Amino acid sequence: PPYKVGYFVGSMSAASINRTLSKALLRLAPQDLVFTEIRIGDLPLYNRDYDGNYPKVARDYKASIAAQDALLFVTPEYNRSLPGALKNAIDWASRPYGENVIARKACAVIGASPGAIGTAVAQQQLRSVLSFLQAPQMNAPEAYIQARPGLFEPDGTVTDEGTEAFLRGFMGSFFEFIERVLTVVPAPR
Ligand code: FNR
Repeated sequence: PPYKVGYFVGSMSAASINRTLSKALLRLAPQDLVFTEIRIGDLPLYNRDYDGNYPKVARDYKASIAAQDALLFVTPEYNRSLPGALKNAIDWASRPYGENVIARKACAVIGASPGAIGTAVAQQQLRSVLSFLQAPQMNAPEAYIQARPGLFEPDGTVTDEGTEAFLRGFMGSFFEFIERVLTVVPAPR
């Protein structure tokens, strides 16, 4: 330690509850995790014609991922899947063929929704994508956050003690998972 964690927020909404959740997670994480947001909103829509000549925004984006030890995905669920913006960003990170920068990064997924299943289906689909990209994933604990109004303050303060303790535990488990992954085989930087 310290370990470098890049985090993705799967929502572009100015009022995103997942962005607020990301703030809560950063507040509650162990001190030895250092966070950098991996911004996805400026990427064009990927297609393979870019493979021979990635634009600067995409090269910078990939370099920011490559510099991390681990990746945290904080995402809403759109129509029982991950948002297109996040999938697009993952596709950019995975190409050109053989230059997938997500491979071997220690990953965790979490998300919040007003609905009762709290992004469970989106997370399962995201996990399939990360599996294909050869990213080790924290399997447990899982975290499906039902975001009732007032659960978070805008700065990421959690108003419910049980939820706060759960999220602190989630980040503590992620720290231990990252340590295990790096101990077995260090991720390329
Ligand atoms: C949603 N929402 C939603 N919620 C859910 O639990 N399962 C779903 O499949 C969907 N589908 C969906 C599609 C689209 C296009 C939108 C805009 C919304 C509701 C969603 O959870 C809610 O809008 C959250 O507030 C989105 O997260 P952010 O943007 O606040 O982080």
